[in-house]
Amino acid sequence: MQTLGTKAWPVLIVSDQIQKQSDEGAWLRELVGVLTDDFGCSVLFCSGYGDAHDLVYAREDLGTVIVDWESAELGRVHRKNDAIATGNSGERFVRYVRSRNARVPILILSDRSSVESLPNRALERVNGVIWKLTDTPRFNAGRIERSVAEYAGSVLPAFFQALVSYADEYNAAWHTPGHMGGQGFLQSPSGTAFHKFFGENMLRADLSISVPELGSLLDHSGVTGKAERFSAAAFGADRCYYVLNGTSTGNQIVWRSQVAPGEACILDRNCHKSMHHAMIATGAQPTYLQPVRNALGMIGPVDFRSVPAGASYAMAALTNSTYDGICYDAAYAAAKLGGASALHFDEAWFAYARFHPIYSGRYAMSLSDRRRLVFSTQSTHKLLTALSQASMIHVKFPADLAASPARAEDFHRRFNETYMMHGSTSPQYAMVASLEVASKMMADNGATALGDIMEEAIELRRKIAGIAAEEEAQGDWFFRVWQPEGVSRASTRDLIENPGAWILEPGAAWHGFPACGLPDPFCMLDPIKLTFLCPGVDSSGRWAERGVPAAIVTRFLGDHGVVCEKTDYYSWLLLNSLGTTKGKQGTLVAALFRFRELYARNAPLDEVFPDLAGAHPVSYQGVGLADHCQAMHQAIRQLELLPRMVAASKVLPVQALCPSDAYRAIVQGRVETVRLDSLDPTASPRTAAVMVAPYPPGIPLLMGGEILDASSAPIVDYLRAREDFERSFPGYGGDIHGVERGEPGSDGWRPYTLMVVRD
Ligand SMILES: Cc1ncc(COP(=O)(O)O)c(C=O)c1O
Repeated sequence: MQTLGTKAWPVLIVSDQIQKQSDEGAWLRELVGVLTDDFGCSVLFCSGYGDAHDLVYAREDLGTVIVDWESAELGRVHRKNDAIATGNSGERFVRYVRSRNARVPILILSDRSSVESLPNRALERVNGVIWKLTDTPRFNAGRIERSVAEYAGSVLPAFFQALVSYADEYNAAWHTPGHMGGQGFLQSPSGTAFHKFFGENMLRADLSISVPELGSLLDHSGVTGKAERFSAAAFGADRCYYVLNGTSTGNQIVWRSQVAPGEACILDRNCHKSMHHAMIATGAQPTYLQPVRNALGMIGPVDFRSVPAGASYAMAALTNSTYDGICYDAAYAAAKLGGASALHFDEAWFAYARFHPIYSGRYAMSLSDRRRLVFSTQSTHKLLTALSQASMIHVKFPADLAASPARAEDFHRRFNETYMMHGSTSPQYAMVASLEVASKMMADNGATALGDIMEEAIELRRKIAGIAAEEEAQGDWFFRVWQPEGVSRASTRDLIENPGAWILEPGAAWHGFPACGLPDPFCMLDPIKLTFLCPGVDSSGRWAERGVPAAIVTRFLGDHGVVCEKTDYYSWLLLNSLGTTKGKQGTLVAALFRFRELYARNAPLDEVFPDLAGAHPVSYQGVGLADHCQAMHQAIRQLELLPRMVAASKVLPVQALCPSDAYRAIVQGRVETVRLDSLDPTASPRTAAVMVAPYPPGIPLLMGGEILDASSAPIVDYLRAREDFERSFPGYGGDIHGVERGEPGSDGWRPYTLMVVRD
């Protein structure tokens, strides 16, 4: 049996006749019997449009939708969508189904006598009409089954289809991987558990590169090449390359393919660590662009005024959007980086931008000026639906390559040399299929899916803003959302359709970013990235007497099943994506209320965080939640963690060595580990061997090869303040890439250490 045959795609019948003791009811029941028993289809029923609407909203596996036109009034289609507000219920329902899915077959079930009454507006959206009572149930069941089969055949994109077909053939495997279609796992209990957990299909689809039906990822041939070409078209690129080791590798492929040792380049300091690794791998000589920060430590756009005028660069790279959801006007940013021969936008978090008009002009592949190569690297797995590590590189050609297939092919041949250097000869085909399917999902109904996500994100924003306003009016407090002031007053539709509502106007109090010479439409806040604000300090740096540090709130949320993306000192980030549901939002709001209730009664930490209090009884047992928040708030203030973080992030240390030379010092053992508290940057400057990037927010403070001296002392000051903070609040240790913990002292504390180049 085929895994994804017609049975996997249920037929939805919307009719109130099915239960009735009438000719029509009997005819329908016979139709359903033949459909299920003889044709092997599965059937779902709804007797009203309300339920049918919910079902269409919730299920994307419907194979055909059948609407009984004579079932006089099947209730209201309860959808707040203007596009479907007119017409009778049947018409509105048909329009609703089409607004969700442009291609699922819709059949009208009608009485021949009412043919005249079928409105053209409905007929032009459906795929056919079934005449009740006139044709035999068997004949109609056959038509319906064909409709499901044809549609099911068109749902799967090429590679995924080939993979499913191959797995369905039950070939006897004599090739890698060694589990041979999962069979190998069944040789022991733990293997059997693995098999049961992941399921047979996943394992039968895990195949060797030697299966010719699936083409080759390294050669981009066969159905694999077809899948990449499909993704290129879907994402607006001239070429697309699938990468199975994340954007961490995608970034390196892009850079290694374009930049030679010693070449000058421009790099957003707000870059992922893989960009630093790309500097090491290429031997590039980077000039950094510093992003601005607000007093909460959030990272804004880079200040393009620091791009050296008149110079030429092999490549320039920007992070778009930033972690906090700031997205650039791509054309403006590209113009500011005019001296670079190639542009790279790291869009690890922004793969969806192409599929909703609100992001128009804000992503790399939207650039229409074909003067140079433009690359976009995207972690398809982060906010679309690919499996972890599945990423894409998109390439837009300059005009000469775009116009000449021979030159484009020449580019590809050279680029592919680097690509192959990073590609395994044993690709995981489920990842390839997930990249192709993620592209197909977006191409088919990306705008609808993103519209849904945006609607839910905006409703959550409004809900939180509403609660905060109500509570504050009664003299209480609540969490807030970081957003332009107008958002809580505008309509959802306006906020979804009008990017102007999300623009970062220069100097606006809500964002708190210092002026960086930006014209108006330059940057926009992404509606689906929600930064929550805690009481304690505002975006301009004004401190409140009482504070609720975000680390405590997100620890609480985590304990209650709400896992946040990022935690800063007084803010935390939640991402909305295709996997976000209303249920998750309800759980979040309920948990926030619960937190506030525990705070209000200063509930003991033994009750709120039993694990924390148990692990560190001296620090936390008997302490109340509100007191704990206040103690941490005061420590953050006294240690000046926020201003120190902002000051440290403004420093661009002198580069004693280029990143690749600093790396070579590590390889050759010309490095040593020193305690942070032993450093005296003014008296004895040292050169960092590795990048130092604290989480939050994961942005490097120091790159390998840069000097810690008097001018970069704010970096050491900030790290020391963090160390002091962690000593005072055990269990709240952050992650600092590049900072290791040394041997424990007599008090058990393991001091911060750094790797520096030996003098
Ligand atoms: C800006 C940026 N680029 C690249 C990456 C790496 O992506 P991946 O996890 O797909 O390797 C990340 C990961 O967080 C990132 O934030």
